[in-house]
Amino acid sequence: MISSWEPGTWPAPHVLYGGDYNPEQWSPPVWREDAALMRKAGVNLATVGVFSWARLEPAPGEYDFGWLTEVLDLLYDAGVGVALGTPTASPPPWLTVAHPDVLPVTDSGVRYSPGSRQHFCVHHPEYQAHAMRIVSELARRLGDHPAIRIWHVHNEFACHVPQCFCDFSAAAFRTWLRERYGNVEAMNEAWGASFWSQRYRDFDEVLPPRVVPALPNPGHHLDYRRFSSDSYLAQYIAERDLLRSVTSHIPITTNYMGFFKPLDYFAWAREQDLCSTDNYPDPADPDSPMLTAMHYDLIRSLKKDVPWTVMEQTTFRVNWRPVNAAKVPGEMRRGSYQALARGAAGILFFQWRASAAGTEKFHSAMLGHAGTATPGWREVIELGEELHRLGELTTATVAADCAILFSWPNWWAVEQIGQPSAELRMLEQVRWMYRPLFEAGVTADFAAPGEDLSAYPVVLVPSLYLLTEAEGASLRRYVENGGTAVISFWSGIVDEHDRVHLGPYGGPLRELIGGDVVDVAPLQPGQTVEVAWTDGRRSAGTLWQDLVDESGGEVLARYAAGPWAGYPAVLSKQAGAGRTVYVGTRLDTAALGGLLAQVLGERDAQPTAGVERVVRRTAGASYEFLINHRGEPASVPLAAAGQDLLSGATVSGRLELPPQGVSIVRRETERR
Ligand code: GLA
Repeated sequence: MISSWEPGTWPAPHVLYGGDYNPEQWSPPVWREDAALMRKAGVNLATVGVFSWARLEPAPGEYDFGWLTEVLDLLYDAGVGVALGTPTASPPPWLTVAHPDVLPVTDSGVRYSPGSRQHFCVHHPEYQAHAMRIVSELARRLGDHPAIRIWHVHNEFACHVPQCFCDFSAAAFRTWLRERYGNVEAMNEAWGASFWSQRYRDFDEVLPPRVVPALPNPGHHLDYRRFSSDSYLAQYIAERDLLRSVTSHIPITTNYMGFFKPLDYFAWAREQDLCSTDNYPDPADPDSPMLTAMHYDLIRSLKKDVPWTVMEQTTFRVNWRPVNAAKVPGEMRRGSYQALARGAAGILFFQWRASAAGTEKFHSAMLGHAGTATPGWREVIELGEELHRLGELTTATVAADCAILFSWPNWWAVEQIGQPSAELRMLEQVRWMYRPLFEAGVTADFAAPGEDLSAYPVVLVPSLYLLTEAEGASLRRYVENGGTAVISFWSGIVDEHDRVHLGPYGGPLRELIGGDVVDVAPLQPGQTVEVAWTDGRRSAGTLWQDLVDESGGEVLARYAAGPWAGYPAVLSKQAGAGRTVYVGTRLDTAALGGLLAQVLGERDAQPTAGVERVVRRTAGASYEFLINHRGEPASVPLAAAGQDLLSGATVSGRLELPPQGVSIVRRETERR
């Protein structure tokens, strides 16, 4: 059973296992069967109540908590803890009947209808008042129930309505702008409002960035992104503070969605006790293992000293893609171990029991429509048994080999209309740098610009277009103090307001580049440029070409053809005790991989194709995760002997992994 929670620690001595449970869709006899089957499956956490508002408050101010109390009692008696959801992601129909303008509005002025979920404007005072009232009733009536282990606030904030453009939102935006800028001239300056006669006389003249005839103002859009992320965060904080005031002993989370553009999760994570995320990799996409690893590395990095949990994944298949590929036998387990390898201490699913009706009825669940006589159920039972034995992992941390700088304001800014190339997409840039790391078994943390980087020997900087002077100075200090930074094109271009750092490009990073980036020449989709390395190798660049005038750096490669032949493509520069490598085009994976291998230096373990490798550590031991993503066996050379935590066997020499196979090699000593 989970003990009471101490801030900064994992709220259980074991790995959490279970999923979303929606008892409002079922009758009391089914609840009893569920409790018994959860026990059988080793489930120790059920996420309850996420979409229960209409059942908990069937009419304004009329409450029915009896059924939920009965469900919590049943789960408690079965030894199943509860992540209790605040139901604010889906208001009941009566709210929008009484206040139709609670419904959110798109940038083209279309007001959404109810009948799905997330049909509210987070700035509307009636939504806020009703949401806080139901959360308050929930906390007051059930907060002391012994089954509750975690509060699960809301659900996937901003998932379907990343921004609202209604008049309530307009008013809230003006308040936000007043606080940010103090006076309207400062805002005009930040937004470059002299351009196209866009100067405002007063904050009252400002509207949300609704649909406009031509290219919009980027500062306006960027601030609306910030404002919208802040608004949802304010709703999270309001619910959190209320819950905390009643139940200070229960940790609080909300489920993220990995690299989800609308919300600045670095800012959000500071307000959370634990991070959790939902991950639905497409089994038909060969890149899914890498994308999952990248997603999990991000979530771990948001709150570096506390484990995190997968809040949702599917056992088998989702139902919202045009064609919903199913996981092959063993794939659900392997994906779960990817999370454990990368710092998770909870493996949860959407959902426990497959719905009989409603739009998600064909979404797989731990317990499917056919009941327990399925291969899926056997996998669920087996995984529950295994995880039960892995409690020691809840105190082990992941030691990353390098960091990747990533920021949401940068993501928002670099993808705005009016850039040199609309083909530059932030996540593609991150994937470009992440792929060779994943293939080489190098573990990366993500770090926000300005974060202390001194623990990392190497820092990668993919297209950090928006960079403040202070963030740039922090990266310079990191390098001058002995760090190595690999910086890609289109970094250090604008300040926090999306105003250009004038001079050769690079702004606060200029002196790290080893040359003057005097202009940029994007390549057409499919166009490549040949790159010649000084050691004779040839490779290809795509997407982009920086035009760099040499000054003080060592040229490692030049463009070998085209109008800019002879210009540097890759430069290196010593700066203080450290060094930078500047990459002016999107090098092919082999070339970038070679470059990164060089800067990362010698490693203990050689990569095996298709096998993911991550090391976690505690004070007394290390745990090497080896995960075979291929449909064929893999033979992995081990750097040292150890004990396979899952089978109990001693392993040394070569480890034979079956297709989809997983091994966790425990060693008493630490290894990289
Ligand atoms: C999201 C939601 C769940 C459910 C699943 C289906 O993650 O949080 O409520 O809709 O998707 O995949």
